[in-house]
Amino acid sequence: MNPTISLMKNHRSVRRFTDQAISEEELRTIIDAGRAASSWKNFQSYSIILIRSQAKKEAIYQLVPQEAILQADTFLLFVGDLNRAQKGVALHTEDFYPAGPENLLISSVDASLAAQNTLLAAESLGYGGVIIGLVRYAAKEIGQLVNLPAYTYPIFGMALGKPAQENAVKPRLPYDSIVFSEEYQEQEAEIIEDYDQVQAAYAGQRAPSSWSERLAQQFGEPANQASQNYLKDQKLL
Ligand SMILES: Cc1cc2nc3c(=O)[nH]c(=O)nc-3n(C[C@H](O)[C@H](O)[C@H](O)COP(=O)(O)O)c2cc1C
Repeated sequence: MNPTISLMKNHRSVRRFTDQAISEEELRTIIDAGRAASSWKNFQSYSIILIRSQAKKEAIYQLVPQEAILQADTFLLFVGDLNRAQKGVALHTEDFYPAGPENLLISSVDASLAAQNTLLAAESLGYGGVIIGLVRYAAKEIGQLVNLPAYTYPIFGMALGKPAQENAVKPRLPYDSIVFSEEYQEQEAEIIEDYDQVQAAYAGQRAPSSWSERLAQQFGEPANQASQNYLKDQKLL
């Protein structure tokens, strides 16, 4: 163990914040640490929109009713971005092929790595936060609210602030059911059932459904179409 690993293993999402502000300087430091993450071919195919005005936080909350957005000092909107790439491409050719899953993976992975670095940097300074993927269910409206141009899309938000609550660290799946030696190992359903119990013990009265029931709610039904529709509007699908 060292302080970095200890910080990483102590991560828990924070959804309730005090009024304490993050200073401009700290915020810049946090985001610059986030931006130090690796990216595909160093393309940095994402942008981050800082939302600090209460009016805009409230406008986002109207679309994505998650209390953390209202309470956060800062809401960061992570945007997958091939708009900047288009300008670079146009210096050399009129051809441009931004659409499709491969390019979505490029921008989504780049944004995710930067976001996780950002969250850890914030945590290292005594702040906390939560990633808000539900912005994708209002992708079009969020896009309009922050003036997203073609070839960009909202991937997730991140509410950041001074924690007003300290949850216990959420237990992960057992190491051996995630990490395999040399080749993939199919899992028995028993592992899932055991983890349902672990999660139930962690969440107590708070959880309205089990972990595997939430899997069924997510993947046992057709995916929400909002992202897909907006990605088509944005010429990314
Ligand atoms: C891509 C992504 C999207 C998420 N979206 C939401 C969200 O919309 N609302 C929320 O409360 N938590 C959201 N979370 C937080 C997860 O629920 C949380 O990370 C997970 O339950 C593990 O808990 P922990 O972060 O406290 O360890 C999201 C996390 C990720 C990585």
